[in-house]
Amino acid sequence: MEAMIGRPIDRIDGHLKVTGAARYAAEFRVPGVVHAVLVQSTIAAGSIAGFDLREAQGMPGVLAIITPDNAARLSHPANVPQAMVGPLLQNDDILFNGQHVGVVVAETLEQAQAAAAAVGVHYHRGEPSTSMDAMLGQAYKPKHFRNGQRPPDSNRGDPDGTFHSGAVKLDTTYVTPIEHHNPIEPHATIAAWNGGKLTVWTTTQGISGTQAALAGQFGIDKSDVRVLCPYLGAGFGCKGNTWPPATLAALAARTVKRPVKLVLTRAQMFTSNGYRPRTIQKLKLASDINGSLVSVRHDGFSSMSQPSLGEFCESVGLATEMLYACPNVGVTHRLVALNASLPTYMRAPGEASGVFALESAMDELAVGLKMDPIEFRLRNYAETDPHENKPFASKALRACYQQGAEAFGWEKRSAGPRSMRDGNILIGWGFATSTYPTNRMPSSAKARMDRDGSVVVQCGTQDIGTGTYTVMTQVASETLGVPMQRIRFELGDSDLPPAPVSGGSMTVASVAPSVLAVCRALVDKIKDLALADADAGWRGQSRDALRISDGLVIGADRRVPISALLERGNRSFVEAEAGTRPGAEKQKFSMHAFGAQFAEVRVDPDLGEIRVSRFVGAFDAGHILNAKTARSQLIGGITYGIGMALLEETLVDGETGRIVNSNVAEYLMPVNADVPDIQTIVVPNDDTNSNPLGAKGIGELPMVGVAAAIANAVYHATGVRVRKVPIRIEDVLTEV
Ligand code: MOS
Repeated sequence: MEAMIGRPIDRIDGHLKVTGAARYAAEFRVPGVVHAVLVQSTIAAGSIAGFDLREAQGMPGVLAIITPDNAARLSHPANVPQAMVGPLLQNDDILFNGQHVGVVVAETLEQAQAAAAAVGVHYHRGEPSTSMDAMLGQAYKPKHFRNGQRPPDSNRGDPDGTFHSGAVKLDTTYVTPIEHHNPIEPHATIAAWNGGKLTVWTTTQGISGTQAALAGQFGIDKSDVRVLCPYLGAGFGCKGNTWPPATLAALAARTVKRPVKLVLTRAQMFTSNGYRPRTIQKLKLASDINGSLVSVRHDGFSSMSQPSLGEFCESVGLATEMLYACPNVGVTHRLVALNASLPTYMRAPGEASGVFALESAMDELAVGLKMDPIEFRLRNYAETDPHENKPFASKALRACYQQGAEAFGWEKRSAGPRSMRDGNILIGWGFATSTYPTNRMPSSAKARMDRDGSVVVQCGTQDIGTGTYTVMTQVASETLGVPMQRIRFELGDSDLPPAPVSGGSMTVASVAPSVLAVCRALVDKIKDLALADADAGWRGQSRDALRISDGLVIGADRRVPISALLERGNRSFVEAEAGTRPGAEKQKFSMHAFGAQFAEVRVDPDLGEIRVSRFVGAFDAGHILNAKTARSQLIGGITYGIGMALLEETLVDGETGRIVNSNVAEYLMPVNADVPDIQTIVVPNDDTNSNPLGAKGIGELPMVGVAAAIANAVYHATGVRVRKVPIRIEDVLTEV
């Protein structure tokens, strides 16, 4: 068998997806299913005074109208982070506009929609707090920063005392907006009870987490909840938690004693399942005259919901702690409570917004020093992690800088702003560093080979659209010596061996080691059968004397079909189980992926129109398991970053706390015309310090630094430093 890991194999689920055969949550056919529609608050603060249900109750097909007045009480599972109690119809408090205040269940979707529209809600109106800027003075420290794994603040050296000694100084503020994930597949759940057992088909990045959350909320055993999610139309973080709609679908199903389907509208996706919070980031950096950083302060504020709903903090300062070798660094994280729904992880949570600020600031300092921006980064290159005082598990960032710069043609850049033109058009070249942590969690897997040589490998992981099916099949194929077509990889079912949430770019690093281990265990079992087999004639030899390929056990002298071994052993299959977990590597090493982002923008000086015309990203993401799906991730991440830089922004009406662009017509995302030719470079690096596959994770890294690279390019083109995203025409027009 040839090597399979690393090859640019087409997605094995591609055909199923383009032909519509892949079933997404809302598409499962469950007999007797009825439909639920959410009723949402039209005020942002206060409480429910009462409902007027007379009209809705009499409408055709209506089976139930569930409100806080009659909803079953749910438990607040202690083991579920960010559990949202308020919006689960458990009390009358209104904490944000769009909060779920009722669920209407009817025979058809149209009947449920009509009745939901006829539900009258009376409120005691409160005064909503909607301005982050106005509330900044009341910012508070997060209590569960990074799930309580570390304090929200850190300090090394004396950043405040040394700032004034710098030759070039910067003291400024960067702002990033609320952004919504907008996966193509909206949230959807079908919930069905059978006695005390609950089955949900739901779109989730973590079937195990959803299983635990629902079991906790309904006070039943985890083994009585089955969560199924074979395919997702992406998630980007908004399907990482168990959000109220999934719970409310299960609650509704229990109420009407029928299977219930609940699918969110696009508008409901803006208030039901998190978003990237707005950030205000104060940066103070000082460099000596030679370009060595002497002091860095990064004080981050991120917008939050009301604290009773839970907590999420955009961890903007974490990259600042480790990216550059500066002896004096201070980082703080604060939250600002607003009448808004709960924010959550969104692709590269923390790093995407934090590195926009940090790498914009680094560019500003380089300009002040009259130093090439890459040279400035190299002067401050961290050979070891300066925050944790540990070696990096691996770090090929220098190679990213070099290879990216060469591919982009960086040496041809003229330094001054407004110094490069194409006719009338201003050309800008900008650069930024990217980084994202390498994460790993425990996972487990099963594998079985049947007598006909076909293999099933099972793991309760997810494929959020990134290629888990394909990559894991490659790992199994190479390890077992079985062609990919003979292997079925099963995931997305909580009855399968558990695996972690598909978040934090850690699916490959967490799951592939278990797939590798279980396939190796299966190989050993097959070899043991061969060694014990009288006819094979290998008794007394060691496993090492044998190898397995294409359905054969191969020894020095002969080959024996595995099917024959199983037949003689009177077995119809051979199977194995394995689990793997991270070792002590996080204690020994600082584990991160890295990249270098290069943007070219073209700015029309008359119109202020900004176009990204070229983009090069060079990445150290460790060992790449599939060159094609990896490239898709890199292009997707850079595209996501273009959206952050120039387009994406959720707008909230200050008076009502209502999101005014809760649709994909007015919440702008990059379309093909906004995305230039993107060149991606993968710097070879096999990081076996981090995990046996040498992979670092690739889902979030490529969007980090993109917004800064583009903002830096806009400065280079126009001479206008824009310290917020998205950068709009009007931000550059006045001075262009
Ligand atoms: Mo990602 S924001 O960890 O799904």
